[in-house]
Amino acid sequence: MRVYELIKKKRDGGALSREELRFLVGGYLSGEVPDYQMAAFLMAAFLRGLSREETVELTEVMLRSGEVLDLTEMDAPRIDKHSTGGVGDKVSIVLAPLVAAAGVAVPMISGRALGHTGGTLDKLESIPGFRTEMSIADFRHALWETGVAIMGQTDDIAPADRRLYALRDVTATVESIPLIASSIMSKKLAEGLNGLVLDVKTGSGAFMKTMEDAEALAAVLAETGNSFGVRTVAVITDMDEPLGRTVGNSLEIKECINVLKGRADEDILDVILTLGSWMLYIADWVQRAVDEPGTEVPRITSVDEAALSEKRAELKELLESGTALESFVDFVERQGGNPEIIANPGLLPGASRMKQVHAPSDGYVQRVDAEKIGIASMLLGAGRQRIEDRIDHGAGIMLNRKSGSAVRKGDPVAVLHYNDEGNLAEVLQLVNEAFVIGPEPPGPRKMIRKVVL
Ligand code: URA
Repeated sequence: MRVYELIKKKRDGGALSREELRFLVGGYLSGEVPDYQMAAFLMAAFLRGLSREETVELTEVMLRSGEVLDLTEMDAPRIDKHSTGGVGDKVSIVLAPLVAAAGVAVPMISGRALGHTGGTLDKLESIPGFRTEMSIADFRHALWETGVAIMGQTDDIAPADRRLYALRDVTATVESIPLIASSIMSKKLAEGLNGLVLDVKTGSGAFMKTMEDAEALAAVLAETGNSFGVRTVAVITDMDEPLGRTVGNSLEIKECINVLKGRADEDILDVILTLGSWMLYIADWVQRAVDEPGTEVPRITSVDEAALSEKRAELKELLESGTALESFVDFVERQGGNPEIIANPGLLPGASRMKQVHAPSDGYVQRVDAEKIGIASMLLGAGRQRIEDRIDHGAGIMLNRKSGSAVRKGDPVAVLHYNDEGNLAEVLQLVNEAFVIGPEPPGPRKMIRKVVL
């Protein structure tokens, strides 16, 4: 086999077999295939696309490039959730302990903030003492003990993705649906899951700005997960406006504590309960098959709406009774974090300066542009422009008003929290632009746009 021929085949619109993909990716990892040939292949794949079969094969090759966790010794079904990334997306921090409180094991390997989007690991690390770097053995123990463990990617998990992503990042080949799908799924499938719920975001603050692209990505992700026997459902949710009230690490942890204490905004609660009920639904689906040894877990092709609503009610009860909060405390303590933050959120890192942003006119907030708020928050220090940048955990933006709110000229619509005022003028301009005010109330915001089985 010659790499030149494989690049040419993809360039001319052909499809590569598993052996050919393995030869290419394996050769890249061993150093036999140089960056320039892999970059040429990635560009050919970007322009020509990959078939569903090629996407699955590429995922498999990347998954097998590293360690795949075997968690079959656990009694509980193992179900994770993955979001394609957004602004103010703190869902995992509430959802993982909440679903664990319902008896499902949640092994979660998460990511960091980059560009205008936030990262679960950075948010958790604003809790004093919290460790997101764990050995696989410790991850497994934490999962046994508390039903939930969240850590960062290790060098051993899907190393091919790490190398390929770095190359895609500098060759303008990130925004390819099959390459994104194989990248995400190679990491998720290494977690030893029975089921996976994907939160595919759409709107200004999302990777997939249009519903059409979000649907295409959701379909490939669901197909890929299911073809590995992991029962996968993709939920397309709105990311045109930040989720909840806060953007920035400590601020978001404070909001999570409020959600767990029963004080949640409707938008974030809807997303948490929808994704969570799907996680419990898949867990039951898997459990039924496991209870009948020898039965292969069938793919979910239709939904029992009554059963799904029951799961939603169960999660609400866990939140209202304080059980989910107890599960969060166990999770934080198990990973070395100080649980005192729940009673005393002042222990979280803060900001030395605050500044209000005011409504420019009377009216109703039509929208709060997620991408602009995400960039503004990053410029305040809450995110990273480049992977090596340091994060200021105390920086961020509090949104006093969201779409649908009535405002009077001069009302404070947002508060900036910062320690470094270097980018303040640019941040103020972005936040002012993000708030669109109009004379009439906007239509209702639909958080759950579509479910793809
Ligand atoms: N997230 C990933 O993990 N991979 C991509 O390619 C894009 C987003």
